[in-house]
Amino acid sequence: MSDPALTHRRAEIIAAAEVWRRGGLVAFPTETVYGLGADAANEQALARIFAAKGRPADHPLIVHVAAARDIERWAREIPPVAWRLAERFWPGPLTLILKRAPGVSALVTGGQDTVGLRVPRHPLALALLTAFGGGIAAPSANRFGRVSATSAAHVVAEFGTTVDCIVDDGPCTVGLESTILDLSGPQPRVLRPGAVSRTALGEILGAVPDIAGAGAPRAPGRLASHYVPDTPLRLVTDAAAELAGSPLPGAKPTAVLALRAPLATPLNCRWVRMSDDPAIYGQQLYARLREVDSWDCDLLLVELPPRAEGWEAVHDRLTRASGGGSPDC
Ligand code: TXA
Ligand code: MG
Repeated sequence: MSDPALTHRRAEIIAAAEVWRRGGLVAFPTETVYGLGADAANEQALARIFAAKGRPADHPLIVHVAAARDIERWAREIPPVAWRLAERFWPGPLTLILKRAPGVSALVTGGQDTVGLRVPRHPLALALLTAFGGGIAAPSANRFGRVSATSAAHVVAEFGTTVDCIVDDGPCTVGLESTILDLSGPQPRVLRPGAVSRTALGEILGAVPDIAGAGAPRAPGRLASHYVPDTPLRLVTDAAAELAGSPLPGAKPTAVLALRAPLATPLNCRWVRMSDDPAIYGQQLYARLREVDSWDCDLLLVELPPRAEGWEAVHDRLTRASGGGSPDC
């Protein structure tokens, strides 16, 4: 265990790696969201991920490894730019889609000829991957189509005791899933925006990559209705204006997420002021959506944040949470 700050968790890390070796499921923190991990080389263990999440078998999983050089076990024909991206952004919230190496399970790839790979930045995730010594397939630790888990309590709420072990390290620092960059085609394309911005990727790629549209590989993060909270969510520009007029008698309250405070809180409304820093907004978004779900509101109005640099991932998740967004192909 190279990180001295984790010495007191040594026994827990070794025990969790042992659960993976025996084909079990371990939920663990990454800097983005909690993952539901299993040995990426063990098909029975992988099948347990799909069963626990209720995830269709053709949706591929990201393989997490401890160091960039480990991707050679999982990918083939790795282009030089992948190594440059790895050097710049790993460990970190970037997933690279590469051509898969022979022998990688179709459960990991969703039957495609590509594989998603990531070296997470979270010290505990790195310690767990190092102790295990292989690749860990880990989707976000939520049931299929639901909001990702950004704390161990969220994992418990999603899975109860279906998971063999939960490694708790408090709330995730990024809070939104990794940026996914597809390097398997003729042009690099972003399949999912995240904390590593397209502008930052462009500095290494030589040109800012496009966001994939129709015809992109099937990926649950790209389903129009993915990331849905229980409370119906509507995107608006002015929540107070939407709420003007008296509420229906006996109606349940309406929740609001907005960057600003209202001049006066509208009647029968629970107003949550969000940070105007996109990194903090993103870090808190899923926890806020879960909190709103616990309030039993009829509706959640979310005021759209600015269309400015740094907000792309937040916009993407909000659009999908409202049931909009580009359709999955
Ligand atoms: O931040 C993250 O990426 C988190 C943490 C746990 O690492 N993981 C995560 O996994 O968000 P998941 O399975 O919830 O989302 C992974 C996305 C899915 O949309 C999946 O379809 C896509 O990555 N994906 C994985 N492998 C792919 C591939 N070979 N081609 C295209 N998309 C792929
Ligand atoms: Mg997910």
